[in-house]
Amino acid sequence: MKLRTGITLVAILAATTVTSAFAQGSGADTFKSKCAMCHGADGLATGPAGKAMQVPAFNSPAAAKATTAEMIAITTTGKGKMPAYTGKLTDAQIKDVVAYIKTLQK
Ligand code: HEC
Repeated sequence: MKLRTGITLVAILAATTVTSAFAQGSGADTFKSKCAMCHGADGLATGPAGKAMQVPAFNSPAAAKATTAEMIAITTTGKGKMPAYTGKLTDAQIKDVVAYIKTLQK
């Protein structure tokens, strides 16, 4: 019985590790599930929530000037109506999602 429990635990741990490694590797998935409702799938914030909160388009001149470090800081600690993601996303996930946003600015 003890042995079986041990094996089950190892299996659960292994599955969890695989899942979080996958999630961290995909900035696009994080963006779609956590950011697109306000920022829009294309980052241009043309949806109802984006308009209501006056979310800036990521390709606007002001947003395009923001450095990766600034965008990571805003995502981590929030700004105005932009929620803080500290504790909700890992540092690696925030880095990946900001890298994905950078691809939307082109
Ligand atoms: C509830 C709506 C909402 C959600 C969800 C949201 N944002 Fe925002 N975001 C905003 C608003 C509003 C602003 C503008 C803040 C300001 O300038 O006062 C903003 C601004 C930003 C900026 C700064 C843009 C610039 O001008 O440089 C970044 C970067 C950003 N968001 C990233 C993210 C990321 C990454 C996520 C998902 C993990 C996310 N946001 C989710 C509403 C949201």
